[in-house]
Amino acid sequence: MHKLIIKGKKELTGTISISGSKNATLPILASTILSRETKLTNIPLVKDIFTMIELLKFIGLKVIIDKKKKSIFLENFEKKINTLAPYKLVKTMRAGVLVLGPLLTKYKKAKVSLPGGCAIGTRPVDLHLLALKKLGAKIQIKDGYIIADAKRGLIGAKIKFPSISVGATENAILAAFGALGTTTLLNCAIEPEIIDLIKFLRKLGCKIKIEGRKIIINRKRNIIKKINHKIIFDRIEAGTYLIAAVLLSKKIVIKKINPRLLKYEIKVLKRMGAKIKISRNSILIAKSKKLKKINISTKPFPGFSTDLQAQLMVLMTQAKGMSKIKENIFENRFMHVPELRRMGAKIEIKNKIAYILGPTRLTGAEVMATDLRASVSLVLAGLIADNRTIVNRIYHLDRGYENLEKKLKKCRAKIKRI
Ligand code: EPZ
Repeated sequence: MHKLIIKGKKELTGTISISGSKNATLPILASTILSRETKLTNIPLVKDIFTMIELLKFIGLKVIIDKKKKSIFLENFEKKINTLAPYKLVKTMRAGVLVLGPLLTKYKKAKVSLPGGCAIGTRPVDLHLLALKKLGAKIQIKDGYIIADAKRGLIGAKIKFPSISVGATENAILAAFGALGTTTLLNCAIEPEIIDLIKFLRKLGCKIKIEGRKIIINRKRNIIKKINHKIIFDRIEAGTYLIAAVLLSKKIVIKKINPRLLKYEIKVLKRMGAKIKISRNSILIAKSKKLKKINISTKPFPGFSTDLQAQLMVLMTQAKGMSKIKENIFENRFMHVPELRRMGAKIEIKNKIAYILGPTRLTGAEVMATDLRASVSLVLAGLIADNRTIVNRIYHLDRGYENLEKKLKKCRAKIKRI
């Protein structure tokens, strides 16, 4: 198992280019089942993308990936389509459940492994299934699989989500793509990654309107056969490096981004005292001497992203006073806390709120990654800690961060993979 060795307190300086978004690429890859010939560019070469490609090949699509150009070419000529997403491919990458909507709406049936939980929570899919049932699907759960049927095809419906879910919104949009008539979804997630998915589906000829958290989908007859799409930048990767820069940089430029999609997070960092200069597609940051404490709650977009909560917690250990983080999205997303404590962080958790006392000097230690964003928070802690930090189980990192150590090394960090 690979690990990262980090020598702390090496000031960062340089430029970091942000990759394409993993969380936009995954639903868009699933929706290529609906297309005929698709070319996707600005793809992040991370583990989850390769797992999704394996799944699409298993279903029957032809997939060619050009790693140098970070692009993927997919063809679905409908020969021998297998409407099955097996456990072995869904268990490590729960976004595999997103093939359910496209398979059902195009082939009227699908058998998809229940994704199961992960370190941060049980991750149910009841909201996905609620939407598909409202569109007329028959759903059965048997032997750990979702067995969905829509013999006469799906019929447009009005669906109000009882709570906001990114994946359920995506699966519902994909299912509505081929449903007869109009589908109106209410109380939707509107993350930028969902907007990118909608842009892709519009290129396929689907009429989709967004009004606040309401999304209206009208099936179009003529599907456009050949389309190109450039994946949006990864705002969570960008936010992660933003926080690294505030922690430890002389001067860092983060480029190939749209700062407007990080508005809330930038506001939080500025309120903590970070010096951040924003231009059209890049951000300039320098380390801030005196960081002030802050209280945040994670919320669906455009609120503070749960995917940046672990990273912000490291910054809070360096802020003067008691900061607070309330994690509202997942039931167990504080797995990084025990590991940060082992590095000297002063963090207490009381009913889903983490209290972080700072500024605290962190010391290097051997720590263990538990999930994607927890692992990157340990890397951030290692960058500012005294001595050496060893982060184990970094396969979690490789699921969502492209060339992490290369990008940091280019900014003079002392970090290596063994
Ligand atoms: C997506 O996961 C992202 N993953 C997650 O990023 C992100 O943290 C999450 O959205 C929230 O923004 C991808 O896009 C591939 P949800 P998803 O459905 O869709 C509950 C990362 O680090 N829920 O919005 O699975 C659920 O348990 C990953 O890149 C139900 O109860 O998240 C959670 O508490 C981690 N029933 C809350 O809703 C359902 O049917 C939000 O989950 C679905 C979800």
